[in-house]
Amino acid sequence: MSNTSAAPRQENRTPEVEVLISADRIAARVRELGAEISRDYRHRSLRLVGVLKGAFVFLADLLRAMDHPDLTLDFLGVATYGSGSQTSGEVRVTKDLDQSIEGLDVLVVEDILDTGVTFHYLTTALRNRKPASLQTVTLLDKPSRRIRPVQADYVGFSIPDAFVVGYGLDFAQRYRELPYIGVLKT
Ligand code: IMP
Ligand code: MG
Repeated sequence: MSNTSAAPRQENRTPEVEVLISADRIAARVRELGAEISRDYRHRSLRLVGVLKGAFVFLADLLRAMDHPDLTLDFLGVATYGSGSQTSGEVRVTKDLDQSIEGLDVLVVEDILDTGVTFHYLTTALRNRKPASLQTVTLLDKPSRRIRPVQADYVGFSIPDAFVVGYGLDFAQRYRELPYIGVLKT
């Protein structure tokens, strides 16, 4: 028989990543955000738009932390050219929304707000589709790196200028599976 009890959370799975925000801290903050957003939207239908790929883990947890009677979900895929830790500033849509957002109250779910280039591109493109309202939630915010003067309506954690991985975030498509947010050692 295999052991079915939950394994203790390993906080140091890979030596090249240093833990910045533990899985427990993330879980606590995501619960708070879920409750806050549910409260703010309690009288309105809500369409969550997850931004692939980075936000998929956050979105999955946020969704289950919400207590809302009329919630629907869609995904948008974007990629910024370049595969390392340097954003090229060019945004490419890899997957469009499946459904129209015209007349809907929309909350865009992002993994990280860095220079703001992706965020600015996305929110401008989505506003052109005439939603009733458009707000944004980002798990992480690196305010010191802004090129575009943008701000999210809900922020999980404000972090210093370091390249982070885990909990959906990647470096060259790796490390997305880590249950915590970590800093990649150079
Ligand atoms: P921005 O356009 O510079 O705001 O960056 C947006 C995208 O770059 C994010 O959605 C991430 O996919 C990626 N990104 C920015 N900073 C980091 C980081 O520290 N770790 C992993 N991905 C990042
Ligand atoms: Mg992203």
